[in-house]
Amino acid sequence: MKVVFISPFTDLLKAFNSESILYRAQNKGVVEYHYINLFECSDLSQNSIDDYPYGGGSGMILRPEPVFNAYSKAIEITGKDNVRVLFPTPDGNILNQEISKNLSNIENLIFICGHYKNIDQRIRDVLITDEISIGDYVLTGGELPACVILDSVVRLMPGVLGNIDSANSDSFSDDLLDCPHYTRPEVYRDIKVPEVLTSGDHKKIEEWKLNKRQEKTKSRRPDLYKIYSKKKD
Ligand code: 6GU
Repeated sequence: MKVVFISPFTDLLKAFNSESILYRAQNKGVVEYHYINLFECSDLSQNSIDDYPYGGGSGMILRPEPVFNAYSKAIEITGKDNVRVLFPTPDGNILNQEISKNLSNIENLIFICGHYKNIDQRIRDVLITDEISIGDYVLTGGELPACVILDSVVRLMPGVLGNIDSANSDSFSDDLLDCPHYTRPEVYRDIKVPEVLTSGDHKKIEEWKLNKRQEKTKSRRPDLYKIYSKKKD
């Protein structure tokens, strides 16, 4: 998968992609990250990338021309086929595991990160294929959401996580939240690991895990539990 980030603050993205699993995924050849700085894509000599909004109002608007220029450069990297152009925005569709799974099968992702009050609507109308929000709160720019989206996508790609089971048993992969987990020692500060987990009785252990997942989902996410119950019946 080729991933191209179009942003005025590419260093933020590089920092995130230079550690841990996302970095290893690049070393393994599963993904390739490319960065296009919007400040290098303006036709104006002052390198300005924003301007005042038509019709008035507060805040600046990202101008179309630096973004269209950057998009042309991005397409040179990815080619035109099997590309999705993602715009992280608080008014987008809310990200979920299904969207991430779907994106993990795409060959080329281009992220356009806005960093001002908004971006010119023509960018959204012409270039963008997916508008995605990461929740009902507002952040200052699209870089953090782009990293969140990418992280959730890349970890689902074959060969990225050591043990694919660890992705399959995640919360949200089957409508139930995850169960509690323990490791050694068996007793820590007088708190004992639940006995069933050290019993060696695999059937009982699976029952315990399912029960914990159901309990947690019922109390924290009744909306998810409803979906789960319906499917179960
Ligand atoms: Cl995708 N962008 C910004 N700026 N804020 C957000 C968001 C995205 N998702 C939630 N809040």
